[in-house]
Amino acid sequence: MDRLINNIGVIGAGIMGIGIVQIAIQSNRQVYLYDAQQDAAKKAYDKLNTTLSRLVEKNKISQTDLEQSLANLHIVENIQELHICDLVIEAIIEKLDIKQSLMKQLEAIVRPECILASNTSSLSITEIAAQCQQPDRVVGYHFFNPVPLMKVVEVIQGLHTNTKIIDQLSELARKMGHRPVRTKDTPGFIINHAGRAYGTEALKILSENVASVTEIDLILKKSLGFKMGPFELLDLTGLDVSHPVMLSIYNQYYQEPRYRPNVLTQQMLIGKKLGRKTGEGFYKYIDQAKQEIAIIPKYSAHRHDLKTVWLSTEFDDDHKKLSTYLTQKGIQINLNAQPNNEDLILIANYGDDATHSAQRLGVNPEQVVCIDMLGNFEQCRTLMPSLLTQPKMIEAALDLFNQPNSETIVIEESLGFVSQRVLAMVVNLACDMAQQKIAIVEDINAAVKLGLGYPFGPIEWGDVIGKEKILKVLERISSISHDPRYRPSPWLQRRCKLNLSLNYQR
Ligand SMILES: NC(=O)c1ccc[n+]([C@@H]2O[C@H](COP(=O)([O-])OP(=O)(O)OC[C@H]3O[C@@H](n4cnc5c(N)ncnc54)[C@H](O)[C@@H]3O)[C@@H](O)[C@H]2O)c1
Repeated sequence: MDRLINNIGVIGAGIMGIGIVQIAIQSNRQVYLYDAQQDAAKKAYDKLNTTLSRLVEKNKISQTDLEQSLANLHIVENIQELHICDLVIEAIIEKLDIKQSLMKQLEAIVRPECILASNTSSLSITEIAAQCQQPDRVVGYHFFNPVPLMKVVEVIQGLHTNTKIIDQLSELARKMGHRPVRTKDTPGFIINHAGRAYGTEALKILSENVASVTEIDLILKKSLGFKMGPFELLDLTGLDVSHPVMLSIYNQYYQEPRYRPNVLTQQMLIGKKLGRKTGEGFYKYIDQAKQEIAIIPKYSAHRHDLKTVWLSTEFDDDHKKLSTYLTQKGIQINLNAQPNNEDLILIANYGDDATHSAQRLGVNPEQVVCIDMLGNFEQCRTLMPSLLTQPKMIEAALDLFNQPNSETIVIEESLGFVSQRVLAMVVNLACDMAQQKIAIVEDINAAVKLGLGYPFGPIEWGDVIGKEKILKVLERISSISHDPRYRPSPWLQRRCKLNLSLNYQR
């Protein structure tokens, strides 16, 4: 065992402190737990005893493991007793001045080589260290709740933090069964930063009346494989937590449009529609159970006398998939340069809406239905008519694409469909993080998978889907909307031009 980090002090016996203590004592470190509130540390001991006993009951650990782990835990009444520690991790209240004075106080107690770590989720490590005599030993060690299950920890290098300390804490994390990800001291670090795109873009889509809350959640889960829809997630976290985080990161980056929050959540916050905790957010909750909001379809499926489809695709794989599908359905594809007046004009477009697609191709918008081919076509198909599309064309398209046990959703016009917009923003934001070297690509991917539960790391996801598709979505939305929020990251542009993987870095 590395002698340097054997005695670990933990300050704050709340949710996070207890979690950190658990993984540390289970990896056989000696842990000294202190809390300013009387009895809080003792209560934490009892809670850990209960948690570990449950693990024994489930045969996850042995009784000997439990006894050994608890023997590693020392409840400390006086903060001075932390003088023997090699590392002290604070998990106290999220207030800058209180954390700053705690760090200053600790410097007078511990040895000069003791590492001082903060579990802050939103404050700057450089600022927490600002009043210290040795800011080079102050570091961020950001765990996630619940600590024993969320197997990732951000190791945050403040402006002055010694790189050796980053190595040491990364090594310790691995020994405690966690994946360390190294990051610069920037707003939101990796995970809270990379996670900004999902909620803010979904809110923007909702505020543009493109689709309902249920439809957006459904599309993103079925088509892209997110475990929770953005509105389910916002309701779970609570807008009292997530709205201030959105606002804070936006302002810390000097109103960078990529992080722009939405008036919708500001209003809901004022109106106390916070989510699960108040019984209503985007959804209603009865006894914590989400009440589904049914989708009211505006159109029903009807074959009419549709015989031929004029197909326009931008990528070969989409063409192959759609033409095979249509042929299997007994539909003839009109291969002429121009569609006939009776054709359904089916466009697999990226980044524009039905109106702009029709204009780009010089076809009649009354016959146009666009289809999103970015995500999982088998699970979910999103259709987008123009404002002028004849209802019979929409009904015929629905008839073509309705499938049992999967979703076909008709949305209003939107520059880029729901999945295209959200995924392009997720990938683009992560590419920009890589460009800024907030972390290496491998760590950005790992952090997001482990911390946010996305099916892929955000940068590798771009390769899986096709980086050219992501770039096309962003370029088109940017050029039509003129909103700098969608400008493609130079990281993404270069790798597309040179045909390199988005993961490529040097
Ligand atoms: N809760 C989360 O999901 C989460 C996730 C990641 C990081 N964090 C961060 O971890 C830290 C702790 O969060 P938490 O949710 O465990 O809080 P908590 O309220 O559950 O626990 C905080 C504990 O710290 C004690 N405390 C407060 N001020 C103290 C002081 N000056 N000295 C000693 N003890 C003090 C309190 O008595 C309390 O027991 C915060 O910085 C928070 O931002 C929280």
